[in-house]
Amino acid sequence: METLQSPFGELQLSRWPQRKNDVLRAWDAADEYLLEYLAEQKLPEKSKRILIVNDGFGALSCALRAYSVTSWSDSSISHLATAENLSKNPTVDASDDLSSGAVSPPEYLKSIESPIHQYDLVVIKIPKTMALLEDQLIKLKPHLTENARVIAGGMIKHLPKSAFQLFEKHIGPLTTSLAKKKARLLFVEVDQALSAVENPYPTRYTDERFGLALNNHANLFSRDHLDFGARFLLAQFSQLPEAGQVVDLGCGNGVLGIKYQQLHADANVQFIDESYMAVESAKTNYTDTIGRTLEEANFRTEDGLKHTLDESVNLILCNPPFHQQHVIGEQIAVELFHHSKRCLQVGGELWIVANRHLDYQGKLKRLFGNCRIIDSNKKFVVLRIVKR
Ligand SMILES: C[S@@+](CC[C@H](N)C(=O)[O-])C[C@H]1O[C@@H](n2cnc3c(N)ncnc32)[C@H](O)[C@@H]1O
Repeated sequence: METLQSPFGELQLSRWPQRKNDVLRAWDAADEYLLEYLAEQKLPEKSKRILIVNDGFGALSCALRAYSVTSWSDSSISHLATAENLSKNPTVDASDDLSSGAVSPPEYLKSIESPIHQYDLVVIKIPKTMALLEDQLIKLKPHLTENARVIAGGMIKHLPKSAFQLFEKHIGPLTTSLAKKKARLLFVEVDQALSAVENPYPTRYTDERFGLALNNHANLFSRDHLDFGARFLLAQFSQLPEAGQVVDLGCGNGVLGIKYQQLHADANVQFIDESYMAVESAKTNYTDTIGRTLEEANFRTEDGLKHTLDESVNLILCNPPFHQQHVIGEQIAVELFHHSKRCLQVGGELWIVANRHLDYQGKLKRLFGNCRIIDSNKKFVVLRIVKR
């Protein structure tokens, strides 16, 4: 846990999941810049809601906790982190120039939902995926009051030109701040004359080889084509064991679990992803492709196998994530391997597809005591691990 000295008071903040000796902080310089700017502004009355979009681990929601905050995100982990961090910062200090006392929890809004209220102030952290930003801006526009202020922030290295274009296309003209600690703010004016645009998301692609037509919400991994890693794993599916309890871990649009269900009608397949949009896409694809009801499988938006019972699963299929928000790394994949070990029954199998350059094989061998290469090509490797 680290301390953020914000103009709204001192905050104790942690990333999620919490790791020992984590060198990464739960906020970045763009959060600090946004808070400094907001502290200099006249904020709306506390009875009015502030919409915070893509708050990483809740730094913005915690700083503005004296207000009625709506936290809108595609990440259930971000929502979880926000709730955890709020519980560590439960009161507002009188020196904030705000009335002191306990704060009301934010309203958590999922990315697949549209805002409910009208907003005078919207604070946006620019997400990694521009399609998600576009989806958010299209949904947001009808919920901005005439004089609404829309302020966005991001680290300059994560601010593509297309982000500026999306704000201008969907909300109105913008100006930018000076750079500060490699972060920049965007001040967007609401142009009420801009005509509403039809939301192009979710989109759909067809893969002829595997006979799949899949719907993908805006923030989906490999939204416009079947991922090459997933494709390589699917090519090995004839070798998968017959299993009763199967998990598509980090399911995205559900491609792995759906294909398994097509080949093994009796299996009980669970689709798990931390992204609301992923699980929603997997649900649509399951019913459309398999022609079964949602009750015939299991869909959960959560952090890996945190809520899965020990030794309850026979087969786990995983194309592991390699980033959390803007941070690239193996940590989440390694955590999912540990979850898998706990949740597999003895004799159960974990099948992984991964980029060759990542040394998952060594890590899995150390963890499970075995790891066999099923196939590899120039870019990918498919690994089979058995719980002993
Ligand atoms: C590389 S994508 C694979 C998607 C899909 N299975 C495929 O093969 O196309 C990894 C997925 O893991 C999800 N993810 C990331 N962190 C997660 C976590 N802690 N728990 C569950 N899912 C997670 C991401 O949202 C993403 O959909």
